[in-house]
Amino acid sequence: MLARYLLDRPDAVAGRRVLDLGAGSGIVGIAAAKAGAAEVIAADVDPYAIAATGLNAAINGMTVLPVLTDLTTGEPPATDIICVGDLFYEAALAERVTSFLDPCLARGIKVLIGDPWRAYLPQSRLRLLAEYAVPDFGTTTSSRPSGVFAFETQNAPAKPRR
Ligand SMILES: C[S@@+](CC[C@H](N)C(=O)[O-])C[C@H]1O[C@@H](n2cnc3c(N)ncnc32)[C@H](O)[C@@H]1O
Repeated sequence: MLARYLLDRPDAVAGRRVLDLGAGSGIVGIAAAKAGAAEVIAADVDPYAIAATGLNAAINGMTVLPVLTDLTTGEPPATDIICVGDLFYEAALAERVTSFLDPCLARGIKVLIGDPWRAYLPQSRLRLLAEYAVPDFGTTTSSRPSGVFAFETQNAPAKPRR
């Protein structure tokens, strides 16, 4: 859903440096590149994800730099926008990612999150930008709602889920 959002609204990333955190197949980073991002880095801790991202970027004719590393342990990276697609599926990981994103926000980095309303999504920190119905696994007849959000500072007023 975050990839769809970037393709629908290329202004969100056009001309900007983008980090796709937890890239998986690379779909979000590839969409950012297609939307006109100046540079895309795709980070993941899984070597298969890094390999898939490289292959998928090449198939799509896009330049994406896959990086095998856990950026959540370090300082805010040199980027303008961090895209986070579906990284709030475990409590410890959600806590780790949120703790990484806070100093990034403080440095002026914009954070976009795409998520199917998973249990550990930090909803009180999010502003809903768009909603999509995403096909569920194993069937073509059902779908689940997914959102694209701006991650905001702790002090921002909470926006309850619609
Ligand atoms: C559910 S997949 C989402 C993939 C992709 N962002 C998407 O929206 O389709 C989560 C990915 O996050 C990666 N991941 C988990 N912990 C991570 C970490 N600390 N840093 C970077 N990637 C991580 C996993 O290896 C996996 O590829």
